[in-house]
Amino acid sequence: MKLSDELCRILQETRTVCVLTGAGISAESGVPTFRGAEGLWKKFRPEELANFDAFIRNPQLVWEWYNYRRQLIETVTPNQGHIALARIEQGVDDFTLITQNVDNLHRRAGSKNVLELHGNIMQSYCIECGAKDDHPDFSGENKVPRCKTCGGLVRPDVVWFGEMLPQHVFEEAERAAQRCSLFICVGTSAIVYPAASLPMTAKQAGAYTIEVNIERTEQSRIFDETLLGKAGDILPSIADSIQLIKGVKA
Ligand code: OAD
Repeated sequence: MKLSDELCRILQETRTVCVLTGAGISAESGVPTFRGAEGLWKKFRPEELANFDAFIRNPQLVWEWYNYRRQLIETVTPNQGHIALARIEQGVDDFTLITQNVDNLHRRAGSKNVLELHGNIMQSYCIECGAKDDHPDFSGENKVPRCKTCGGLVRPDVVWFGEMLPQHVFEEAERAAQRCSLFICVGTSAIVYPAASLPMTAKQAGAYTIEVNIERTEQSRIFDETLLGKAGDILPSIADSIQLIKGVKA
């Protein structure tokens, strides 16, 4: 993809890059997004399943959804978009990758400085005593895992609607958005807060802000540029430019 002259100029100068990703970056790996025609699971919206009340009402249904996603994630691999972000990290002095995804694909692609705002789907804990249990046993009553220590319900270690993000992780994300000179927002509908506030935080602090998405979003107007297309097509062009400028071997 041909990048604009302004973006090429920014890429030449930038030392500090911050990236926010959402489900769209993993779409080309075969992980469905949450929203849009293909984003629905059994006709449920994510807000109906990803919340504590839904879990207490019907833990089996919620675990079914997470198990479906856990099993799917185990079969997929990082795509060109994930790999390009790991290459960009090698080409700049200060790089922070903030993700709303819980699929671990960024780390598997080689990204190092990753902030997981919404947790990690492979980890679980007991809602009663807090004990971690990353290998829950689904053989019990209703196939809902129970804590091996106290018998309480075990839940996925992800952030649900209505829950606070891990405070220190979000504060670090805000600091990264404030100090970067280039902010790249990739594959997110940018409607779920507080993650969706980060592009504006970067812009207000003076960063050049770009959005990479297959379609325009509710936040498109705040970005300096929206690059329309697949992350797996666009991000490699950005990584190539940075690596060419910095002389990093591909
Ligand atoms: P969404 O499903 O809301 O949005 C995915 C975005 O990716 C859409 O804007 C698509 O247009 C875009 N997209 C799809 N394929 C793409 C591709 N190949 N390249 C670039 N863009 C592409 O997912 P999120 O914005 O991540 O939270 O959703 C935010 C949060 O809502 C999630 O973290 C999750 C969810 O419910 C919780 O569970 C708390």
